[in-house]
Amino acid sequence: MPTPFEKPITKEDPFNLCFVCLGNICRSPTAEGVFQHLVKERGLDPYFYVDSAGTGAYHVGEAANSKSQEMANKHGIELDSRARKFEPDDLKEFDLILAMDHENFDNLQKLDLKNEYSGKLFLMREFDPKPGTKAVPDPYFGGMDGFKDVYDIVYRSCEALLNKLEKQIEED
Ligand code: 4NP
Repeated sequence: MPTPFEKPITKEDPFNLCFVCLGNICRSPTAEGVFQHLVKERGLDPYFYVDSAGTGAYHVGEAANSKSQEMANKHGIELDSRARKFEPDDLKEFDLILAMDHENFDNLQKLDLKNEYSGKLFLMREFDPKPGTKAVPDPYFGGMDGFKDVYDIVYRSCEALLNKLEKQIEED
């Protein structure tokens, strides 16, 4: 199977990516909103489908956490996702699946019963240009500082990831 970074991206066959955390109310909705914002800013809407999900079902149906929304809004970004649980079929549907931390990554691997989709699974921070830990810290039980850190990490990583994927676009 070709890697996600070999796939030609066209309007007819857009690139589908899904950001995954635990609750799908803090980290992954931030990543979805930021990545979508960058896509729009570059006029690349027809080439990408962006989604997010959680490995846990505790918050299904909920809007993004108010502190995550506050951070995004400060930068002119709306977070309009509703929490959903990542389903095994999503492994097939998405071209690239980006886990926020090692626990989410391990849980995604466990859903891949026949080990068919490992080439699609990455930690989002693999693309963070700043060296350091590969996990996005869970901000849920902490204060605003944690949410600011999440936003900064997510923004850096999404910008670098889109720079990479943009090279795969084939205009017709
Ligand atoms: P997220 O944050 O995984 O970034 O959406 C969390 C949200 C909820 C919980 C943990 C983390 N929780 O324990 O309910």
